[in-house]
Amino acid sequence: MPEDYFGERVAARYDESADIFEPAVVDPVVDFLADLAGHGAALELGIGTGRIALPLAQRGIRVHGIDLSGAMVARLRAKPGAEQIGVTIGDFATTTVEGRFSVAYLVFNTIMNLTTQDGQIACFQNVAAHLEPGGCFVIEVGVPGLQRLPPGETVRAFNVSATRLGFDEYDVVSQGLISHHYSVVDGKLEVLSVPFRYVWPAELDLMARLAGMTLRERWSGWKREPFTSDSTKHVSVWEKPASGSRG
Ligand SMILES: C[S@@+](CC[C@H](N)C(=O)[O-])C[C@H]1O[C@@H](n2cnc3c(N)ncnc32)[C@H](O)[C@@H]1O
Repeated sequence: MPEDYFGERVAARYDESADIFEPAVVDPVVDFLADLAGHGAALELGIGTGRIALPLAQRGIRVHGIDLSGAMVARLRAKPGAEQIGVTIGDFATTTVEGRFSVAYLVFNTIMNLTTQDGQIACFQNVAAHLEPGGCFVIEVGVPGLQRLPPGETVRAFNVSATRLGFDEYDVVSQGLISHHYSVVDGKLEVLSVPFRYVWPAELDLMARLAGMTLRERWSGWKREPFTSDSTKHVSVWEKPASGSRG
């Protein structure tokens, strides 16, 4: 099992990031996913505290989640509406669940929590095995920010304030990235360093093809904004061939 970076300390404060729970942020995600789910079911990889799964289930869509973190899932379980959502504790690259889904989704950069290329490939293969024919896999993830990293440098600040500092440390040889977070909480310094593997859009397309899926849509946001050379993130949709299709 991969290391759990969303233990009790992180889970206890996850929902305090009020901006990511704003309706203006959540509603377009839920609209997008509900459209793809249609009359089918949805599978969320890394369901966390249910930021997306709960409002999606409120639209009448059956949602199942996979997550490594018992602490995050305990927060989801304590919320109204959680009783409609099934959750399996495990690694979303390899964990299997009952049922077939019309959409699977992995939002908020969480594909990068799989820190090896093999792990990310396995995730696409696991998703493909859970999708019904014609089903879709949706990923929201940043475009690697290497154009902003001057040659020879490895560290870039992403947050600098009086009580918080955040630095991304890149390893361009291994496509590794460690996000270092320093926060002053109740007058004490808390430190958290989380490893990621950044991944290119074209590399994700190839992983999808290895799993028998093809790119259907790529946008720079959930409201289907165009994806361009200036985009800092993408929302991509890959499709499993409909049955009978030659793929
Ligand atoms: C950034 S949170 C996102 C939670 C939720 N999807 C959201 O949008 O608010 C990432 C979640 O993915 C889970 N996670 C990370 N790596 C995982 C893995 N390999 N298998 C299962 N869950 C994982 C973490 O425990 C955490 O709950």
